Amino acid sequence: MIVVTGGCGFIGSAFVLGWLGPRAEPVLNLDLLTYAGHPGNLAPVQDDARYRFCRGDIGDAVLVGRLLAEHRPRAIVNFAAESHVDRSIADPLAFAQTNVMGTLRLLQASLDYWKSLPAAEAAGFRFVHVSTDEVFGSLAPDAPAFTEQHRYEPNSPYSASKAASDHFVRAWHHTYGLPVLITNCSNNYGPRQFPEKLIPLVIHNALREQPLPVYGDGRQVRDWLYVEDHCTALEAVLERGAVGETYNVGGRAERTNMQVVHALCAILDELRPRAGGKPHADLVTHVKDRPGHDRRYAIDDGKLATELSWKPSIGFEQGLRRTVQWYLDNGDWVESVTSGSYRQWVERQYEGLAPTA
Ligand code: NAD
Ligand code: TYD
Repeated sequence: MIVVTGGCGFIGSAFVLGWLGPRAEPVLNLDLLTYAGHPGNLAPVQDDARYRFCRGDIGDAVLVGRLLAEHRPRAIVNFAAESHVDRSIADPLAFAQTNVMGTLRLLQASLDYWKSLPAAEAAGFRFVHVSTDEVFGSLAPDAPAFTEQHRYEPNSPYSASKAASDHFVRAWHHTYGLPVLITNCSNNYGPRQFPEKLIPLVIHNALREQPLPVYGDGRQVRDWLYVEDHCTALEAVLERGAVGETYNVGGRAERTNMQVVHALCAILDELRPRAGGKPHADLVTHVKDRPGHDRRYAIDDGKLATELSWKPSIGFEQGLRRTVQWYLDNGDWVESVTSGSYRQWVERQYEGLAPTA
């Protein structure tokens, strides 16, 4: 079996659902169920004998040690993290706690477990750490995309905490021999993404006739990857990746935020026209920029493509349409995740951001 951490979140749940589709191999999901974790994301497999769930913290080394000894996984895929840049600006210590100290304790428990394995099992064991392209910092408009050799220059508390975790993962391989692999992926989008991130937030607000907040001039560039393609990349890295290596994962879909927001508005105009017929784009509202906002991310996925024969299978326009349709079809999910603390977050984050144009 394999252990997945953070499997009730956006990418982790897509990974677990994708994993259990064609495979007999069981998954144990360790998730603390923070505001971002929803057991309902895994409703399709909750009664499946191959799926097991444990609510707990990756930073609880005693719990992790016990789970590993009991279930004897052949791999751990670590998704668990605090993942939202704006929240990291508001509460950086929570990011250090989970992303740095949590990962460190998970590494320590994994190392103890790995050292206890018989040689053949130890040789096959893998620790895959799921990280972000944001560790590389911001690119100039015409600079080549990030390769695995790009130096780390994290600019936000989120990316700094992920960078720190990457360094620890690397060190646990270099120093102690733990068989690790690291992936650095670009912005994901798709079903079940919490509506604090740009794409689901815009869909959510547009459907409620609320302003679509664009930070600054909206010309920041992200490289968008459909979440299921990220999951196939992680499977390739887990099964065929070289121990100790890092792999960049990207969508080959650089877009400015304004392009993304307008593309979403056009799809919504078609699938769910506004009463009165006005375009959704009328709701676009430029607000004060994010502090330290990175201007551009772009991924060179040449290593993954060449060495592991991976490429994204879902184009941006196709993926965006699928995503909008999913949110239109899953209003109950949105309602259930946006009660209570979500409303407090939105009020705190956006109320002070007066329109700038
Ligand atoms: P998410 O915020 O949707 O989910 C995070 C999950 O981790 C939640 O289920 C949460 O309950 C759980 N969790 C948080 N702290 C925990 C802890 N201490 N112990 C156990 N579980 C805990 O995040 P996501 O967007 O699915 O991202 C998953 C991973 O992928 C993160 O490591 C993130 O840095 C990385 N990543 C995300 C993106 C993206 O665009 N979303 C891109 C590249 C990399
Ligand atoms: P986000 O989805 O938070 O991902 P990240 O910051 O990790 O790239 O944001 C994507 C881009 O959209 C980023 O440039 C910030 C911008 N953005 C807005 O303009 N308005 C918003 O309300 C949000 C949440 C993000």
